[in-house]
Amino acid sequence: MGRHTNAIPEDDSPAGRHEPGAGTPTHAGTPTHNRAAAHAGAPAQLRPAPAHLPDPPGDGAIASARGLTKVYGAGNTQVRALDAVDVDLGRGELTAIMGPSGSGKSTLMHCMAGLDSPTSGSVVVDGVEISRMSQRQLTKLRRTRIGFVFQAYNLVPTLTAAENITLPLDIARRPVDQARFDAVVRAVGLEDRLHHRPSELSGGQQQRVACARALIAEPSVVFADEPTGNLDSRAAAEVLGFLRRSVDDLGHSVVMVTHEASAAAYAHRVLFLADGRLEAELLRPDAATILDALGALGAARERRLAGDAPAGTTAEPAAVLGAVPAAVPGASPAEVPGAGAGPGAVPANAGHDPSGHRA
Ligand SMILES: Nc1ncnc2c1ncn2[C@@H]1O[C@H](COP(=O)(O)OP(=O)(O)OP(=O)(O)O)[C@@H](O)[C@H]1O
Ligand SMILES: [Mg+2]
Repeated sequence: MGRHTNAIPEDDSPAGRHEPGAGTPTHAGTPTHNRAAAHAGAPAQLRPAPAHLPDPPGDGAIASARGLTKVYGAGNTQVRALDAVDVDLGRGELTAIMGPSGSGKSTLMHCMAGLDSPTSGSVVVDGVEISRMSQRQLTKLRRTRIGFVFQAYNLVPTLTAAENITLPLDIARRPVDQARFDAVVRAVGLEDRLHHRPSELSGGQQQRVACARALIAEPSVVFADEPTGNLDSRAAAEVLGFLRRSVDDLGHSVVMVTHEASAAAYAHRVLFLADGRLEAELLRPDAATILDALGALGAARERRLAGDAPAGTTAEPAAVLGAVPAAVPGASPAEVPGAGAGPGAVPANAGHDPSGHRA
């Protein structure tokens, strides 16, 4: 990614982060990264997601899916983990994906990262159609264009932290850029742990090694599946702060699955999945508006499952709208990452254009 520099600021505090709705240096002024700013002042809206997005996707999307369907098993045991998902993930954005257990979050990430193959539909990553690639092509793509962070860190136990970080480059037989390595290590705060093996590191340190490993090769996009799922709140904040800064200050694109509203509040945009479908999205989120959106979507889903509303609709949008407050009472930006920008819940994909042209 040509926009990257090796300078990664070390301010870890949420208060030190740029807020996407407030015109960040990275997002403001660059037509491909001002979608969040374009929505500033827009009223909160939570509506059903439109079924389809334009194909092909615009340049503002770092990764896109069209009609993405994944069916596991057959016959009575068949599970439709993804059901014709259309989504554009923004270039230079931190996107959070939320939804109930079993809603298809990991399946979506795996299919978009080339770790799993879809049953049907297409996936484009940084302009490259990957859904029909051979395993060999996918392996190469994952080494060069895609970073992945797993909940369970997945470090190689016999390698030191430094060796784990450079592993993608070593496997791809690419040289290690020392300045880049030093900057990434400094950013994740691992300077004094580089020669320790994973068993000698805390969970938070291990996950920071995994984040550094995901970013060292400057991938087009990093997918992180519950990266803070095993961490206490302090270690989680360190990892999330790093992920957010890697987006704001370096222009990386990160997609993260989380169950925690406080974690999703670090994102520029939150997508909500349910039953293998994209239901809605929330722009400029904060923890309170995310919790409200989860509550509203959960209630609507329960009514749907009970047969009170047709599938694919979010009943009573006005009531749902009312559940998303215009401000977060009693919460300061330092306490709630992302707070202060105001809510911006809109249907997933509706008017969403990572390029900002359509917004
Ligand atoms: N390899 C598999 N074989 C069969 N079914 C699978 C497989 N992987 C996932 N599934 C099913 O697909 C659905 C979606 O699973 P997925 O792991 O994507 O959910 P998730 O949203 O990530 O859930 P969680 O929050 O619990 O991690 C679930 O019903 C799951 O049981
Ligand atoms: Mg999962």
